[in-house]
Amino acid sequence: AGSIEIDLTKVEEGAQLKTLWRGKPIFVRHRTAAEIAEAESVDVAKLPDPETDTDRLVAGPSGNVDPKYLVMVGVCTHFGCVPVGEAGDYDGWYCPCHGSHYDTSGRIRKGPAPKNMVIPPYSYITDTTIKVG
Ligand code: FES
Repeated sequence: AGSIEIDLTKVEEGAQLKTLWRGKPIFVRHRTAAEIAEAESVDVAKLPDPETDTDRLVAGPSGNVDPKYLVMVGVCTHFGCVPVGEAGDYDGWYCPCHGSHYDTSGRIRKGPAPKNMVIPPYSYITDTTIKVG
């Protein structure tokens, strides 16, 4: 109880699956090569909440980190609205409540939110299945 399994093969490249875990929205984004490149090319020291893209990912069963899948709690760190995907000035998410812009790694880039969107506890059960919680 309290954990959920997600089949990553159901999320097409360039799409996002939204589900619920403990009453919170969970976003699973299958990122495109361009989105990954954008997330990795950022000067982390200049970010409001400095984290590399890799810091925000979890290694698979082989021990390697596959940057394709970004798994986040889909809640704005300002006052908790649910951001909209593929929107905003940084090609990631945009929170319409007060105008926070998140990048393709879910990191806050502009607007009133203080923190990056949260990465929930999760692990890979197989190469293509994760368990959240
Ligand atoms: Fe998202 Fe305020 S709740 S910007």
